[in-house]
This record gives sequence, C-alpha cells and structure tokens, in this order.
Amino acid sequence: MSESPEKKFQHGLVHELEQVVEKELDRHLSMAKEWFPHQYVPWSEGRDYDGPLGGEEWSLEQSKLSQEARESLIVNLLTEDNLPGYHNAIATVYGQEGAWGTWVNRWTAEENRHGIVLRDYLTVTRAVDPIALERARMNHMEHGYAATHGDSFLHGTAYVSFQELATRVSHRNTGKASGDPICEQMMARIAADENLHMIFYRNLLGAALEIAPNERCARTPTSSRRSRCPAPASTASSRSP
Ligand SMILES: [Fe+2]
Ligand SMILES: [Fe+2]
Repeated sequence: MSESPEKKFQHGLVHELEQVVEKELDRHLSMAKEWFPHQYVPWSEGRDYDGPLGGEEWSLEQSKLSQEARESLIVNLLTEDNLPGYHNAIATVYGQEGAWGTWVNRWTAEENRHGIVLRDYLTVTRAVDPIALERARMNHMEHGYAATHGDSFLHGTAYVSFQELATRVSHRNTGKASGDPICEQMMARIAADENLHMIFYRNLLGAALEIAPNERCARTPTSSRRSRCPAPASTASSRSP
C-alpha cells in the first residue's frame, strides 16, 4: 500500500530533522545533571504500614501537607505514571531509530525518575492514602493515553513543547505551595529536568517550522490551545486522600 501524502511529508520531516535531534540530544546530555531519587526522600520520617508488616494504617491527619498540595502532587504523579502511554505516542511519531530513538528512551528514563521520587516522598511522609493512590494509578493506566492530535508530527511536537513547560511550572508551584522545604527541593529538581525537556522540544519545533513554514498556521495553534496536564482518569479517586 502506498504512503499517504501526509505520511510522506512526516517521514521526510523526521528524516530531515535527524541532525537537529543529534545536536539537541548532545546539548541535553551536556546540560542534564545526574541525580538520585532516594536522596530527596526523608526516609527517617517513614514507618511500616498495615498489611503484611502489621504497621499503622494511613489516615489523613498523618499528613502535614495542605489538601491543595496533596492533590496537586497526586495529579503530578499520575501524569508521570502514564509514561508508557506517552512513550508509545512519542515513539510512534518520532520512530526509534538513531538519535530519535536515543532521545525517546532517554526522555522516558528521566520522566520515570520523576514518578519514582514523587511516589517515594508521598508514601514515606504519609501525604497520601497509598491504597487510593495505587487504585488511581491502575485506573489511570488502564484507560491509557491517546493524543487528541493523533500521530501528526507538528501537532505532537507543539503539544509536548507546551506540556513540558506546563509541567515545569506545575512542579515548581506545587513545591512552593507544599510548605515543606524537602518537597520544594524535590519539585525544583524535577522542574529543572522539565525545563531541559521543554528546550529540546521547543528547539525541535523551531527547526521543523523552518523546514515547513507553511504548516505553521495550520497546525500549531490547536495544540497550544489544548495543551494541558492529563487529568487523572478518576477525579474522585485523586481526592480521596
Ligand atoms: Fe516529568
Ligand atoms: Fe518532562
């Protein structure tokens, strides 16, 4: 079966942008700092839960965070948890060969780090009902992720540019609103990663629009209008802590 003109255009664009991706990947790797989730978690505040270990059941008064901070952290964590869905969507558009594949895998690994540190912090500090959180994660993941813009390269790239900026702002603000210096430090660390992601996609989008300027008006405004953090599949479950 022959390729549609749209697919041909996209494959051509992906091919033409390979060198840009190589350059942006190098820039990203030279700027990115290695960090370790376990160093941001106050393990000394933790204790066993009920269940096989016979510890204490979670209850709301154990959390020192405000309801707003808790809900925001849960939504941010569920967003990070949906990573396999994002990985699939991005790999479908960009492919998994060469520099594109290296970037998609690297980005996925960094986003996974965010989910790890957020979950450990929330669980150890008893900021969230761990049972409701796990159920929300299952619910969220089982619904999966499907981009509203389909597999359009320019839509997808515009979307992630805004999405990374949105997560940077959201993580930063959530850390500040938490009133917990440890949480603020952790969220600032995550936000620094999101900023580098945003720069990668922003530069990629700029290069793509240089190559295909006529696509600009037709494609980018919709993505920017629709850009938002994916909401949890069940809002009720995210509020239960
Ligand atoms: Fe992230
Ligand atoms: Fe990110």
